[in-house]
Amino acid sequence: TGLTTLDYGFVNTAATRSEITYIDGDAGILRYRGYPIEQVAQNLTYLEVAWLLIYGELPTPSELAEFDDKIRHHTLLHEDLKRFFDALPHNAHPMSVLSSGVSALSTYYQDSLNPRNPEDVEISTIRLLAKLPVMAAYAHKKSLGQAFLYPDNSLSFVDNFLRLNFGTMAEPYEINPVLSKALERLLILHEDHEQNASTSTVRLVGSTEANMFASISAGINALFGPLHGGANEAVLTMLAQIRDSGEGVAKFVERVKNKEAGIRLMGFGHRVYKNYDPRAKLVKESADEVLLALGVQDPLLDIAKELEQVALSDEYFISRRLYPNVDFYTGVIYKAMGFPTRMFTVLFAIGRLPGWIAHWREMAIDPQTKIGRPQQLYMGAPARDLPQAFQAP
Ligand code: CMC
Repeated sequence: TGLTTLDYGFVNTAATRSEITYIDGDAGILRYRGYPIEQVAQNLTYLEVAWLLIYGELPTPSELAEFDDKIRHHTLLHEDLKRFFDALPHNAHPMSVLSSGVSALSTYYQDSLNPRNPEDVEISTIRLLAKLPVMAAYAHKKSLGQAFLYPDNSLSFVDNFLRLNFGTMAEPYEINPVLSKALERLLILHEDHEQNASTSTVRLVGSTEANMFASISAGINALFGPLHGGANEAVLTMLAQIRDSGEGVAKFVERVKNKEAGIRLMGFGHRVYKNYDPRAKLVKESADEVLLALGVQDPLLDIAKELEQVALSDEYFISRRLYPNVDFYTGVIYKAMGFPTRMFTVLFAIGRLPGWIAHWREMAIDPQTKIGRPQQLYMGAPARDLPQAFQAP
């Protein structure tokens, strides 16, 4: 139609109004419900931020206590669902395992999937927040060939998750407060980022009135790609390749600039930020701190810093306003914590879950929501008749 505008990648098209997250990409500003990310990451817990994003205001102490308690008491997976994880190949990518597990949740809770019923929406919210980390840890354990642990409801959200990943049946898990604090901070930094590809996917699927599990499973699959959440895994692979090839940072950057075989500097550039990503600034600060506290020395962190320095003083990156994004330094920290590279994007998914839920719920109650249905400009063959040989005699 004459009204259709072509907008590859939705660079200029707003698909919704939203009250959740504000970004000023030129100034490098990010706010959750009006609160600056720096203050949020410094002072709140993952669950407080989840509440803030989902319900719009900070929780009172009793609201938070009730929310936390409900989540602790919904962490168990149905025993049959646990066996589902066992049936997948041990070398499966944990993101595929996670999206399948979340999709499978809708087979267990068929009586509470109605997107128009507030009670169903509430219980699905709790179930997702409680069970996603457990499924993520099982995906990790499966890859190691280790037994799945049951959650321990006496532990905080983050400690429970760490124990499920790194504890074994053989001995009690020792909580390391440095690790817990660092992971909590990283998860908070990922909690929302307005209409990114995975959140837009969640909203689009949800706009068909599909249930929350189906919508979030789709979001996890969208996050998997290396241009989105998969970038944190891709950054570490890139840093390891630079180290192993011995080619040096300057040479690698030259190849990126020449667009050799389409390679990109992973963890650099952003659709919205044309300035330093405020999350990357906070992650970078954490990287040295965490590695020091955990007693880890990793030459990959030195390579990352050198890459950043070379790129930020190079005309190619300056003219395109390419800066490190949130994924640039996270992998080095996750690695120091003991997570395998393939778990990095799963950690992003746990971080992003409250944002996906908040957007799904905002979409579901917005009277203006319509089923998402983009236009296209048809460029194919004009009308024509099937060749004679294909026509009935
Ligand atoms: N390395 C080298 N060149 C780049 C990069 C990069 N990382 N990012 C963008 N460019 C170039 C691109 O080639 C283009 O150059 P030219 O004008 O000569 O064709 C120009 O910069 C503009 O890039 P674009 O692809 O039009 O930008 P976009 O907004 O469509 O893409 C992006 C944004 C994040 C997909 C892209 O910057 C990228 O691929 N970055 C690497 C992957 C990455 O780190 N993704 C994580 C994003 S942040 C967190 C998240 O969402 O998960």
